[in-house]
Order: sequence, then C-alpha cells, then structure tokens
Amino acid sequence: MQPGLSFPEKSHPIIIIGAGGIVNDAHLPAYKIAGFEVAGIYDINMEKARNTAARFSIPVVYESINQLLAEAPPDVVFDLALPGNIVISVLKQLPDGAAVLMQKPMGENYEQAKDILQLTRGRKMIAGVNFQLRYAPFIVAAREIINRGGIGELCDIEVNVNVYTPWPLWDFLYKAPRVEILYHSIHYIDLVRSFLGNPSGIYAKTVKHPHMPDLASVRSNIIMDYGDMIRANILTNHCHQFGLHNQQSYLKFEGTKGAIKIRLGVLMNYPAGIPDVFEYVIIEEGKQPEWETMAIIGGWFPHAFIGSMSEVMKAAEGSISAPDNSVEDCIHTMACVEAAYASSEKGAAKINEEF
Ligand SMILES: NC(=O)c1ccc[n+]([C@@H]2O[C@H](COP(=O)([O-])OP(=O)(O)OC[C@H]3O[C@@H](n4cnc5c(N)ncnc54)[C@H](O)[C@@H]3O)[C@@H](O)[C@H]2O)c1
Repeated sequence: MQPGLSFPEKSHPIIIIGAGGIVNDAHLPAYKIAGFEVAGIYDINMEKARNTAARFSIPVVYESINQLLAEAPPDVVFDLALPGNIVISVLKQLPDGAAVLMQKPMGENYEQAKDILQLTRGRKMIAGVNFQLRYAPFIVAAREIINRGGIGELCDIEVNVNVYTPWPLWDFLYKAPRVEILYHSIHYIDLVRSFLGNPSGIYAKTVKHPHMPDLASVRSNIIMDYGDMIRANILTNHCHQFGLHNQQSYLKFEGTKGAIKIRLGVLMNYPAGIPDVFEYVIIEEGKQPEWETMAIIGGWFPHAFIGSMSEVMKAAEGSISAPDNSVEDCIHTMACVEAAYASSEKGAAKINEEF
C-alpha cells in the first residue's frame, strides 16, 4: 500500500541551514524522493556543508547567513536542522514573513518554545516543526483506517520501546539537561496528540541508567491523561543491551471494533534496523479475531520528512491556512514535554505507612 500523502501544488526551493547527521540521513534523501529542489546549504562548519552539497548535488554552499539571505529566491522555504538551543538565534536573522521548517525540539524547554512562538508570530512567519512521525506512511495508513471508523472508537494508544539506543552517537546529548523525553519520546507525545488532541495532564517518571551516568534520564514512563475512558501510555527503555531476541518497539492503537499494531523496525538492532511490520485486526461477528499484515511502502526515516516539509510548502502557497505541524500546534507538544518533566520531578503519591 502507498498511503496518500498530500503534496503542494508547486514545490518551493529549499535552503538548508545545518548540514549534520539528520540532514544527510533523512531530509535530503526524502526531498530527493519527493522531487523537491534544494537551492543551497549553509553550516557554520563549511566543510560539512561542502561535503553534503557534493553528496546531494546541491548547487550553492553559502559562506555566511548574509550571503544566504541576499541570494535566497523569493519563494524559498528555510529548513533549519540545528540543535534546539540554536534555533531562535537563526530564526531572528530570517526576514519577516519567511516560510520555515525547524527541527524538533522547538527549543530546549517550554520557555524557549514560547520565545520561538512569539518571534514567529511577531514576524508573521509561516513556521512548522519537524515532528515527522505524524506523516510516516504507516501512520498515514493507520489514520486512514481509524478516520473511516475501521477499528471503531479509538480508546487506547500504547507506545512500547525496549531497545538498545547507542546514545554516544550524539555527543551534544552529553551536555543536554534533558535527553529521553525531549529528544525521543517527544515524537510519541506529538503523535498521540495528533490522534487524541491535548491531554488534560501528564503523569511521568523518567530515569537515568547505571551504565550511562553522564547522560540525563534515558528511560521513561509517560501517561497522557484523557479521562477515564481512554488510555495513552508511552514506555521507553533504550538500555536493553541483551541482543535483539527480546527487543521490541511498537505503536498500538486499539478501538472498540479492532486494533492496529505497527513495529518500528528502525529502532531495533540500531543502526541497522529491521523491517517495519503493519498488522491490523477487525472484529467480525461470529468469527475469531484474525490479524492481517499490510505491506506499506516507505518508513519513518526518511519518507515521513516529505510530509513535514509539504505542510510548510502548502501553507506558503496558500492552499492551506497554516501547516498541520505549525508552531501554534507544536507548542502544545512542548507543553506536554514540560509537564512530563515536572511530573517526574514532583514524584509519586506518597504511600501512607501509618497503621
Ligand atoms: N525529527 C527527527 O526525527 C530528528 C532526528 C535526529 C535529529 N533531529 C534534530 O535535528 C537537530 C540536529 O541534529 P543532528 O543529529 O543533525 O545534529 P548534528 O550535530 O549532526 O548537526 C547539527 C549541525 O548544525 C550546525 N550548526 C550549529 N550551529 C549552527 C549555526 N548557528 N548556523 C549553521 N549551522 C549550525 C553544526 O555545525 C552541525 O553540522 C537536533 O535538534 C535534533 O534533535 C531530529
């Protein structure tokens, strides 16, 4: 199955700022698949920009932000793939009304997220955040089934990740005060919001690991509160160093008439990964539940990145009023992340030991 992604009528030229790992591994491969034009690239590390440009045949490597701004085509989309704490300083240099896609997280905390929101509002920018899991082909397929009532009333979402993630690959994380929820589970929080809207609150506990004392917390349990009829849980352990045998990584949607389970193969046996699997079951009266497997073309990396860029392009051409992944929407994901850390710090209900 090729799930239906919605594309802009006309693709806009893209200028990339930041030529690091994610641009090389996902942005540029995705744009190549989509046929989006990349007009130029800039990185404070010129060598990285030059190497990336050579690898993906990008015609211009800018030597400064000033040169980039002077030469930018009028209908450009700026694609910022920078560490979260740098985003605002670069946004400030972009012109009023600019169309921008920024990498997640939207700042390193809620205060920075609010600053980004105020800046983009004040400058009347068309601004989106790269929470691309929303547009992964298997999510588009799941959303199509759920929206047409295929599994009945959606009442349960579970994310369960038990894998070994080699955090040392990202050295900037060693300086980061927050790791797992801000850089990883944030995708799942955003995804749950995209199906269920904003929760009324969050319960969470996020912890470190004895083998990774130099990193902030790397394992999390997050409960998003949608009242007494819906369960939305995210459980992540990135420290399962005991081989592939008992690793697992899945998203599961349960409704009143059926369920969908998606294996996120990319996280298992990382970085080699294993294939994704999309399974679903629909209850039929008088029959035993029977799970079916559906082949889905494309994955979270890189195909989903087409979706987050398409949203900004569609808003820039005026075919939609704002990107689905707009800063106005994504600020709520950042608020949930902040609430999760606050809940974890506050601690659990105390046990009464007075007998
Ligand atoms: N959406 C996703 O699934 C996903 C996945 C991985 C990373 N990310 C996010 O992407 C961002 C970048 O991650 P990465 O792995 O590519 O990091 P990276 O360290 O490999 O690359 C960042 C690049 O930004 C450049 N840079 C820093 N300051 C700059 C500035 N002021 N102007 C221009 N260039 C500047 C650096 O030189 C570096 O090349 C992070 O915020 C990360 O959270 C998102």
